[in-house]
This record gives sequence, structure tokens and C-alpha cells, in this order.
Amino acid sequence: MSPASFHELVLSHASIRSYQERKVPEDVLQRILLAATRASSSGNMQAYSIIVTTNPTLKAKLLKPHFHQSMVTDAPILLTFCADFYRMRQWLQLNEAPLNFDNFMSFMIASIDAILASQNAALAAEAEGLGICYMGTTLASCGPIAQILNCPPNVVPVVGMSLGYANESVPPRDRLPLHGIVHRETYRHQTAAEISEIYRDKEEQGLKRYLQHADLKKRIEEVGATNLAQIYTKAKYTRESHLKYSRDVFDFLKEQNFLNFD
Ligand SMILES: Cc1cc2nc3c(=O)[nH]c(=O)nc-3n(C[C@H](O)[C@H](O)[C@H](O)COP(=O)(O)O)c2cc1C
Repeated sequence: MSPASFHELVLSHASIRSYQERKVPEDVLQRILLAATRASSSGNMQAYSIIVTTNPTLKAKLLKPHFHQSMVTDAPILLTFCADFYRMRQWLQLNEAPLNFDNFMSFMIASIDAILASQNAALAAEAEGLGICYMGTTLASCGPIAQILNCPPNVVPVVGMSLGYANESVPPRDRLPLHGIVHRETYRHQTAAEISEIYRDKEEQGLKRYLQHADLKKRIEEVGATNLAQIYTKAKYTRESHLKYSRDVFDFLKEQNFLNFD
């Protein structure tokens, strides 16, 4: 693939939330999964597992922990990327090696591995003409999802995506300008005027987009949000909801043997 066609692929990315019933051929799925495993990983340990779910009954069970997002049942495939030191720890045991990797740092390493693999899968899927959409509900509901997917200790679902042939055509969404994201050599503090400029287009386009969704528009009015910053913090991602998810994730990390400090 030429740099130009790779660039075209990544610049045309848009999350797909509506899918055709058409099945994804097994050879296509295999290429996507192989691409996922070619991602870099810490020490080449590949401390992650990928759970491929196509069974309609299982997908129906996953609907609630994924907050009833319709793509869970509509997409032919769900991929759940799990931070996983269970497999490696079994191998350590078989080789009489110390049973490390049961702490927070190990969870972070395994999560990074899983997330890098997931983005390789996303790009490979798009190169195959498929659509994807990540689901942040995977981490928010990691405990219930792990239970449904039968995850053992030291395995935590961190990121998931729906996968299938698109049933919608979505134009690429806005992004912050490069100069707002990139710092040369060291971090350069941005002035208030620069921050306003960096977010100006997003404010306009984001507000327009959210007001098009009837449910979200109602919620925006209920909480009295008058700009995009307030929509993000009063309607979409409240302090209360994120405190709850933080507690849920930490409780589950403890349960899954990832929070040992001795
Ligand atoms: C970690 C993560 C979690 C996400 N969770 C959801 C989700 O639960 N539901 C959803 O509809 N989109 C979700 N998305 C998709 C984002 O909304 C989307 O990537 C973003 O709005 C930019 O749009 P684009 O992907 O079309 O460019 C998620 C994306 C990421 C990276």
C-alpha cells in the first residue's frame, strides 16, 4: 500500500453504527485478527486476548452492559479486547517462574497492548471495506461483560468494537487542528485565546451535531447546557457518572487480581 492510499484510508475513517445483515467472511476476519496481533506490545508479551462474539444470544446478553447500543446486536461481529496476564501467568507457572504481573502497572501495560491491537484491527477492517465503532461501555461495564464472556482472573475487557458492512454513509467528523495537539520539543502552554481558537470549529460543529439527536437534545435542555463544553460535562460525561465508573473499574481490577501492592 502506498503512503497516499494509507493516508486516504485513515483520513476517511468514520465510526459506523448501523450495519447490514451481511456476514463477514472468515478469511476477512482472520486477516483483521492477524493484523491486530502484529501491533507492537510491551516486551512482545502480547498481554491481551481478543474475544470474537457472533452468537446472537451472547450479543443479546451484552446489550445491557453496553447500555443498549443497537450496534451490539445489529453488527455481525463484536470484538472485545481484554488486558490479559492470565495466559502468561499460566506459562510462568509451567516454567517455575515468579508469578508476576498481578499489579496496576501490569494492568496498564496489558491495556496498552490491547488498545494498540484494537486500532490495528480497526484499520485492517476499514481496509477490507468494513465499518467499525468503538464502545467505551466495554470499560465502563468491564465486570458484567467479563462475566458474560467468561473471563478468568487477570483478564479485564478494556476496549470493544462492533464490526460489519456499513448500512450508512458517514462523512469524517471534525478534529482539532494539528497545531492545537502537537507540541514541538517540549509542552507549550496555550493562552486562553489560543484555546478558544483551537476549539472554535468543534464548538460549532459539535453543538449542531448533538442538537440533531432528539434524546440528547432533550437531556441538554434538561441540564441547562448552553455550549459544547457544558454538554460534555453536564449531559454526556458527568462527574457523578465518571466517579461511579472509576469505582466500578477499580473494584473489578481488585477482584481480577490486578491491585496487589506487596
Ligand atoms: C475508547 C472509545 C470509546 C468509544 N465509545 C463509543 C460508544 O460507546 N458509542 C459510540 O457510539 N461511539 C463510541 N466511540 C466512537 C467515538 O464517538 C468516535 O470515535 C468519535 O466521536 C469520533 O468520530 P469518528 O470515529 O467517526 O471520527 C468511542 C471511541 C473510542 C475511541
